[in-house]
Amino acid sequence: MNKQVDPPDLPAGGHGVGFERILVTAALPYANGKIHLGHLAGAYLPSDIYVRYQRSMKRDVVFLCGSDEHGVPITITAEQEKTTPQAVVDRYHALNKAAFEKFGMSFDNYSRTSMPLHHEMAREFFLELHKAGVLKEKKEKQLYDKKAGMFLPDRYVEGTCPVCANPDARGDQCERCGTFLNPTDLKNPRSKITGETPTVRETTHFYFPLGAYQQQLEEYIAAADARDGWKENVLQYCRGWFKEGLQDRAVTRDLDWGVKIPIKGYETKVLYVWFDAVLGYVSATKEWASQQGHPDKWKNYWLSSTTKYVAFIGKDNVVFHCIVFPAMLMAWNATSPGKYVLPENVPANEFLNFEGQKFSKSRGWGIDVDEFLEEFPADALRYTLTMNLPELRDTDFTWKDFQARNNNELADILGNFINRTFTFAHRNFDGKIPELGPLNDLDKQLLSSLQSVPKKAGKLFEQYHFRDAVLEIMNLARFANKYFNDSEPWKTLKTDPVRCATTINLCLQAIRSLAILLEPTVPFSAAKMWRMLNLPQSPSQAGWKSAAEVVLTTGRGLGQAEILFSKIEDEAIKKHVEKLPSTPPSTPKASAAKPTISIDDFKQIDLRIAKVIAAEKVPKSDKLLKLRVSIGTEERQVIAGIAQHYAPEDLVGKKIVVVANLAPAKLMGQESQGMILAASDNNGKLSILTIATDLAEGSVVK
Ligand code: MF3
Ligand code: ZN
Repeated sequence: MNKQVDPPDLPAGGHGVGFERILVTAALPYANGKIHLGHLAGAYLPSDIYVRYQRSMKRDVVFLCGSDEHGVPITITAEQEKTTPQAVVDRYHALNKAAFEKFGMSFDNYSRTSMPLHHEMAREFFLELHKAGVLKEKKEKQLYDKKAGMFLPDRYVEGTCPVCANPDARGDQCERCGTFLNPTDLKNPRSKITGETPTVRETTHFYFPLGAYQQQLEEYIAAADARDGWKENVLQYCRGWFKEGLQDRAVTRDLDWGVKIPIKGYETKVLYVWFDAVLGYVSATKEWASQQGHPDKWKNYWLSSTTKYVAFIGKDNVVFHCIVFPAMLMAWNATSPGKYVLPENVPANEFLNFEGQKFSKSRGWGIDVDEFLEEFPADALRYTLTMNLPELRDTDFTWKDFQARNNNELADILGNFINRTFTFAHRNFDGKIPELGPLNDLDKQLLSSLQSVPKKAGKLFEQYHFRDAVLEIMNLARFANKYFNDSEPWKTLKTDPVRCATTINLCLQAIRSLAILLEPTVPFSAAKMWRMLNLPQSPSQAGWKSAAEVVLTTGRGLGQAEILFSKIEDEAIKKHVEKLPSTPPSTPKASAAKPTISIDDFKQIDLRIAKVIAAEKVPKSDKLLKLRVSIGTEERQVIAGIAQHYAPEDLVGKKIVVVANLAPAKLMGQESQGMILAASDNNGKLSILTIATDLAEGSVVK
C-alpha cells in the first residue's frame, strides 16, 4: 500500500516533522551456518541497495547487522558438530562476515550478540522491564528429556504439526505451514538429542504480556503504514496475528547458552534468543558509536523521534519485528525516560527458491555465497538477484536465468555500450572528452532521460521497489546503447565531425550518470566505470542528484578501458546444473504418491545383480563416481551420484543392483551405461542396495 506521493528531500516524519537521519538494520543471521543466495534476496541485498541509495542522497544513515549467536539453533549445531557453541559462532561469524564483504554489503558495523556489551545491554533491558513490573512469572509444564537430563525448548523437539500434520515440525515453528508453535503443541514429540519421547515437567519462566499491547500495536502499524506504505504481505501477516489475538510469550529458557539472568532461581536459565537478538541491533549501534569515538552517538539514532528506522528482514521474521520487538520497545518507552524509535517500515521479502525447490542445507540443495563468489563476480549476482527479488511472492533462482541476465543484460547492453563508447573515444578523440555541439532530437531525448530517471528510480527505491527501480535504470542503459547505434558515430566521424563529437560526449555523460545510478546495485562495476572516466572520489560522493547533470568537461582525459562484465560460458553453467542432486528433494509422502503400475510395466525394467570391478572419482565433480561393473555377460561403465556417501575403494568387490536396460546418458562428459539402485532418506543419508546372500553377477532381480 504505497501511499507515499513524492520522494521529498527528506522523507516526511511521523510527527509531521522531517526525518533527520535514517537507521537501517538487516536481520541478524544465526551464526550456525553459511549465508546462501536465499538469505541475500530476503533481507541483505535490498537493505544494502537502500542504504547505498540513501548515502548517495547525502542522508545521515547508519547500517547495522551482525551474528545472532544464541538460542537452540546454535547449541544443536554444536552438538551435531561435536564442539562448543562458542566454537560454532566464532567459525560462522568469521565466515559470514567475510562472505558479506565479498558480496559488497556496506554495513557500518557487523557485530555479534556474544560480545559482553550486548549481554549487558540485553540484561539491562530485561531487568528494567522486570523492575517496572511488566513481566509475569508463570509456572508451566514443558517437555523434558530424562535421558539427556534437560528441558527441551524450541527446536530441541520435533513432532507432528497440529495444524497441517507435517511430521517434521519444529518445536518453535512448522516450516511447512508457517504456524508458530510451542513444543507442547506437537503431536508425537521426539527429542532432537536422544530421539526419546519427552516427558512433561514443571518449570518457571518470565512472560512478556504481548496481549496487553495489541491495541497500541495495531495503531502503530496503521499509522506507520499510512506514512510510509507497508508491504501488503507484511500487513497481512500482522492482521493474521491480531485476529488470533496476541498471547503472553515466555522470554526466558532452560538453557545455559545465552544471556544470563541475575535473578534468584534463574541460575540455570537464559533470555529467550529472540528477546536478546532484536536488541542486538541496538548494541551493534552502540559498538559502532564507540568505534567512532563517540560512545553516545547511538542515541541520536535510537532515542530520537526524528529518526526513520527501517528494518529489513525475510518473511519468517515478521512477527518478531512487527509485533514482539515494537511491543518490547513500547514497554520500555512507557517506563523509562529514553524513548526508542519504532520501525517506520519493515519491508520483508518472501522467499527465493533455488531451481524450483527450497534451499536446504541437509539435502544439499542451493548454493552458499562464498562458494558462488569463488567462481562468479559479486555484481553479476547482485544484479541477477535484484531483477528477481521476491518482493511480492516467492521467486526462483536458476542457473540459466543467472547466465542470461549476466550475458544478455549486463554484458550485451550495459557493458557493450560502455565498451564501444570508450573504444571509440580512445581511437578517434585521443582518449579525451569531445566537445558538445548543437543538439538534435535524439540527443535531447537522451538528455531528458538522464534528467528523469534519477527521480523515477529514486522514488521507487524510497518505496522499496528495488526491482522496478533497477529496471528503469537498465532501460536508460538500453536506450543509451540504442542511441549510440542510431547516431552512427562511425559514419558521422567523416561526414559531420561536430555531430560525432556530440554523440560521444553525450554517451560519456550517460556513462557517468549510469555509474551513479547503478552504484547501489552493482557497486564494484560502478567504481570501475568511475575510474574509466577518470573522475575523482566515487559515484556516491558525486551524489544521486548529480546523475541528472551534464558535467564532464571537454578535453578531460579518460582512463583506460577495463573489462566490466565477462560472459558466462555454457560450460560453467552446465557444471552447476549437473551438480544438482539428481533426484530433486521430496518428502517421503510425495515420493510415495506415484500412480499404480501393472506387473508388466514393472517387468520392463531389466534389473540385474552386478559386481563392482573398479571405481574412481569423476574429475571436477564432487558428487559423481565412475564405476566399472560386471553384469555377467558384459562390463558396463556407470556414473553414479554417490561420491559424497561412498569412497571408491569401499565399493570395489561389492554386489549391487543395476538397471541394465536404461538408455545411456552423459554426465559431466562421461557415458553412463546403466544406473545403480540406491535409496536416500529425508536427512540426506544414502545407501546403495546390496544383496543379503551372494549371487552370481547377472542374476535377474524380480
Ligand atoms: N537469526 C534470525 C534468523 O536467522 C534472525 C534474527 S533477527 C533479529 O531467522 F532481529 F533478531 F536480530
Ligand atoms: Zn504445519
